[in-house]
Amino acid sequence: MNSRASQPIGVFDSGIGGLTVAHAIRELLPNENMIYFGDTAHLPYGDKSEAAIQAYSIRIADILLKKGCKVIVIACNSASSAAYELLREYVRKDTHIINVIDPMVDYVLEHFAGQDIGLIGTKRTVQSGVYARKIEEGNKNIRLHSLATPLLAPMIEEGFFNNQISQEIIAQYLSDAKLSGIEALILACTHYPLIISEIDTYYHGEMSVLDSSAIVARALREYLTRENLLNDVRRPERLFLVSDYTESFAAAARMFFHDEVQLERHALWNS
Ligand code: DGL
Repeated sequence: MNSRASQPIGVFDSGIGGLTVAHAIRELLPNENMIYFGDTAHLPYGDKSEAAIQAYSIRIADILLKKGCKVIVIACNSASSAAYELLREYVRKDTHIINVIDPMVDYVLEHFAGQDIGLIGTKRTVQSGVYARKIEEGNKNIRLHSLATPLLAPMIEEGFFNNQISQEIIAQYLSDAKLSGIEALILACTHYPLIISEIDTYYHGEMSVLDSSAIVARALREYLTRENLLNDVRRPERLFLVSDYTESFAAAARMFFHDEVQLERHALWNS
């Protein structure tokens, strides 16, 4: 086993969305130590400029590196589209970076050749055009229909789902003409698995709704296996850092990780 194997996996997002990825990682890799960073002081990322998201991401990577993370998972599509290339350059010799976009693109290219695929995500992710470009490069004759759905992440972050208002907002977005005729829908925001049952209900269970969390966890396991970096402790530690304490983050973390949640505030700057 590589001597770095017992070091933690770093995972970050603007808020609670990345917990869907962190949870899938825990399910697939239960022996791994993990440090999660939720940049709750700066959410939503989806409305921020590319430069702002890059600055936050670099700072978070510094914090995770200082804590010895053996790999960093950008559990956020907005940050993956705005800052992945930059982060990869930045940490090049210190650690490996996994984003949430490439594993999903590979999955779609493998399973949905020749089809019309919908995508919903933040403005940052949709405007970046990164999914469209990567899917096009895969040459599988897939037609991507993307729609920015900017109200969804803040709504979910506020704990506002599974109620009449969230159902109406979701229905309003999903009935957009841009998404007509699609055969599957990519959830290109890590907050959206929290409303997957409402999305399924909207489509009467007849749409393939693609959630990246398990797909990303598998990509992480492949990397750790290849590099001989899998950990084997029985009682792994999981630490949750937030740049601003919010009750909704604490509640969501408890929902996914129950009493394992050790939550600390860690400012992005002046720390
Ligand atoms: N969970 C994020 C994403 O995947 C960010 C949502 C936001 O902060 O706007 O894009």
